[in-house]
Amino acid sequence: MHTDDLAELKQDAIDKIIFHATPKAVLDRVGPWVLERGEGAYLYDADGREYLDALSGGVFAVLAGYGRGEIARAMYEQARRLPYTSPYATTSAVAVDLARKLAEVTPGDLSASFFCNSGSEAVEAAIKLARHYHEATGEGRRYKVVSLRRAYHGTTMGALSATGWSPGFGFFRRAADPVVPGAGYTSAMPPYCLRCEFGLAFPSCGLACSTTIEQAILGSDPELVSCVIVEPVMGTAGCIVPPPGYLTKVREICDRYGVLLIADEVVCGFGRTGSWFGVNHFDVVPDIMVVAKGLTSGYAPMAAAIARREIAEKIPVFFDVHTYGGHPVSAAAALANIEIIEREGLVDNAATVGRHLLELLEGLRSHPIVGDVRGLGLFAAVELMRNPKAREDFAPDAGVDNQVAAVAREMGVFVRPLGGTILLAPPLIFTKEQAARTVEVLDAALSQVESRVLGDDNTNASRPVQIDEHADGQPDSAANP
Ligand SMILES: Cc1ncc(COP(=O)(O)O)c(C=O)c1O
Repeated sequence: MHTDDLAELKQDAIDKIIFHATPKAVLDRVGPWVLERGEGAYLYDADGREYLDALSGGVFAVLAGYGRGEIARAMYEQARRLPYTSPYATTSAVAVDLARKLAEVTPGDLSASFFCNSGSEAVEAAIKLARHYHEATGEGRRYKVVSLRRAYHGTTMGALSATGWSPGFGFFRRAADPVVPGAGYTSAMPPYCLRCEFGLAFPSCGLACSTTIEQAILGSDPELVSCVIVEPVMGTAGCIVPPPGYLTKVREICDRYGVLLIADEVVCGFGRTGSWFGVNHFDVVPDIMVVAKGLTSGYAPMAAAIARREIAEKIPVFFDVHTYGGHPVSAAAALANIEIIEREGLVDNAATVGRHLLELLEGLRSHPIVGDVRGLGLFAAVELMRNPKAREDFAPDAGVDNQVAAVAREMGVFVRPLGGTILLAPPLIFTKEQAARTVEVLDAALSQVESRVLGDDNTNASRPVQIDEHADGQPDSAANP
């Protein structure tokens, strides 16, 4: 593209698009990132630069990689044949095929899908399904939702109300205060061993964090609680993998009080963690599962709340409707995408390459600002600290994670800074060589940034490890343009 045209395109993007959670000051300073195309695990921007995408499009969506003609063709053919169906008592063969496929790949008797357009909508639908179920079974008083601090469930008001404070998105959470009036949201402690709010260590802790869910239920009057919602591996909170046994305990607690368990698999679903779904690692079947992102690998907007058979059967009518729910073109994209994941063994690849990635990332612990390295499958985090030995964080506004990500991007690798952590979530087609390149660049970026910040008085400002639920945070995209 001609330089003048590109400059105009970028300026029009700033003037004519309201960007999601991106401060105008950042756009004015560095401009919007205009992407042109993708191929495999690589992205190409309008400036003609190539990037290795270690983030599946930035928000963990593009599992099957870019340039998949098979998905594009399936969408084209479906659009020619039948582009649309109404959500009322109407569907299409392709949507039924997708519902069948989801019943097959999800665990246990999860078998009935409510289709909508985004993860947030599907979270809302799951919360409503739980209430409908209680209503239908004579327990219509149950309406309260228990979620975890640091959890992320989306930005529509109901999903946002279930979202907990976290350093990466205190900004979003604040937009929900007060939470949906009368919806009874309560929070419990996340299974974040590194920052255990009790100061305990696994396994001697006896999974004390799970008991805070029980306390939240008891404190809310158990007969009023409808559901507990958890991410099997907490994504936006910084790839927090719960300790063994945690999710089983949560399942037991839900069963004890007649509360439904919702698993938000928007990030974990379809192989991200090296298993078809995050819950598979823990042998737990939720009552309702929420999927989005990887369902279509981002080729079309689609999400679903998938209920266990006995739950769906008991609900006589579900009062929720979306004009584009079960959209045939999105359903065609989802089916073609799942077919690729199955045929190319991408779930196994995520497990194998993910293990390799994590081994390589472990080597970064030698950096003086790396406080933790963790991950599962092709999902990993490198947590930064001012002084890992003393468990001392950088000041929230130091933006050290943003600096590391910016240097990495300058070097051609796309990673995500979030609340003091660098997140990695590459497409499931990632190779060991691409994993090695990612870690090599991160290594160089960390070296460059730490030599700068450890000697700099401004960013040297430190604070004790932060566990205050109400502390503020910056939108990560602010410094990851
Ligand atoms: C775990 C989780 N749930 C829900 C959502 C919301 O999805 P969406 O942005 O499609 O509304 C997200 C988005 O990142 C997510 O990570």
